[in-house]
Amino acid sequence: MSISTFLLLLLSVLPFSLCKTTIEPCSGSDSCPALLGYTLYTDLKVSEVAALFRTDPYSILATNAFNLTAPDAAHRILPAGLFIQVPTVCACSDGIRKSVTTRYTTRPADTLASIATNIFSGLASADQIRQANAITDPSTLDVGQILVIPLPCTCFNSTDNFLPAVYMSYVVKDGESVQGIAATYSTTVADITNVNAMGNPTVHPGDILAIPLPACPSIFPKFASDNGLLVANGTYTITAGTCVQCSCGPGNLNLYCTPAPMAVSCSSMQCRNSKLMLGNMTAQPTSAGCNITSCNYGGFVNGTIVTTLSTSLQPRCPGVHQFPPVIEIPTTVLHETFEFPPAPSPISGAEPGVVIPAPRSPLPGKGLAFPGATTATGPAAPAGSTSNAPSLIRLDQLLARGIS
Ligand SMILES: *[C@@H]1O[C@H](CO)[C@@H](O)[C@H](O)[C@H]1NC(C)=O
Ligand SMILES: *[C@@H]1O[C@H](CO)[C@@H](O)[C@H](O)[C@H]1NC(C)=O
Ligand SMILES: *[C@@H]1O[C@H](CO)[C@@H](O)[C@H](O)[C@H]1NC(C)=O
Ligand SMILES: *[C@@H]1O[C@H](CO)[C@@H](O)[C@H](O)[C@H]1NC(C)=O
Ligand SMILES: *[C@@H]1O[C@H](CO)[C@@H](O)[C@H](O)[C@H]1NC(C)=O
Ligand SMILES: *[C@@H]1O[C@H](CO)[C@@H](O)[C@H](O)[C@H]1NC(C)=O
Repeated sequence: MSISTFLLLLLSVLPFSLCKTTIEPCSGSDSCPALLGYTLYTDLKVSEVAALFRTDPYSILATNAFNLTAPDAAHRILPAGLFIQVPTVCACSDGIRKSVTTRYTTRPADTLASIATNIFSGLASADQIRQANAITDPSTLDVGQILVIPLPCTCFNSTDNFLPAVYMSYVVKDGESVQGIAATYSTTVADITNVNAMGNPTVHPGDILAIPLPACPSIFPKFASDNGLLVANGTYTITAGTCVQCSCGPGNLNLYCTPAPMAVSCSSMQCRNSKLMLGNMTAQPTSAGCNITSCNYGGFVNGTIVTTLSTSLQPRCPGVHQFPPVIEIPTTVLHETFEFPPAPSPISGAEPGVVIPAPRSPLPGKGLAFPGATTATGPAAPAGSTSNAPSLIRLDQLLARGIS
């Protein structure tokens, strides 16, 4: 085979086999809230998406600012091709940040590639699933086998340029550019290239970027079960069981918590020695300014909702609190660019053993020694700092060296 033929062949597989993922080295056992950008492979109920990612339906609705109080909200059907954000816990495992709570029970006709590419919409890779589950022969998946699905996420200290941020793992789609993605998420090309340690702002379909979203931080005590809670601007979150709803924005980045609309059998949400409930506030104009007393949420401790009454003097009295706009739960996908991947039916109808072709498969089972990865040190890393990460070689560089 001549070198030119080899190059051509190589180029033809390039977009599929060299997907890059931003990897954040870590140590210790801390975790942070993170988001997964997920595209539905088929129509799924909110509760089914929640089950897929081991989260709860209300968290999914809240994270996407979907109307929580719509009748039967948790069982509404979301359309195939819809892009949503799924909240997850970003842990530290084997020295890198990842979400490790997701489990998937295999069904007939599943392959590692179809699970990675279709069911988890490219967030997982066949090779990572194979490694995480010590699968030696990916061609023989047992139906009903429970697989750990490692999913990419980053914490970067929950800050971006020294401001609170939550990171979303975003799978680049066909035809997308860093410019377009930056515009969609109100950030800059420089910020995205910086966060993801990219040499130049070029992406390929299937690459996974960490996208920083401005967020409202919380200051709950260490022993609160929702310590570290972080809510992206323009969205909501549900915490304290399903008792408390917190929102962020749009006017400022101060976390604002109230009783959740579906709160039942919850501990008291009234501030001690006061008539105020969580989220309530009194404002009294005085000669020195506006005397504001508010009842705030202080975290979920031992099954108890902690409330704190705080008083402050502000220059002006605030108006009625503005909530981020809530949108109706989508029933259709607007843009028609979505192409249905050949997906296994959620209801078993396929014959066992039928292999589903996966269009963007990174050659499952080939045992790529270096799944394309860039090691990022995050947005605010001191210049010239050395990473303690295992040095991951990008496959394209490896190949480039091999053929030059
Ligand atoms: C949410 O749904 C409820 C019940 O259908 C409705 O009353 C309310 O207006 C909706 N809220 C928004 C913001 O659409
Ligand atoms: C991490 O974030 C905290 C505030 O949330 C900040 O004080 C601290 O400097 C940050 N650390 C680094 C290494 O950026
Ligand atoms: C938060 O979102 C609102 C609109 O949803 C926007 O006007 C505002 O600038 C955002 N704030 C930050 C800090 O990005
Ligand atoms: C206090 O908070 C409760 C619960 O959110 C709300 O129903 C009520 O209207 C608020 N009262 C005042 C005076 O803001
Ligand atoms: C502000 O209001 C609170 C309760 O209404 C009161 O206890 C406090 O003395 C007031 N502070 C000032 C500076 O007016
Ligand atoms: C939670 O409750 C347990 C037993 O009731 C108690 O030992 C522990 O100190 C409590 N923790 C906090 C943070 O209050």
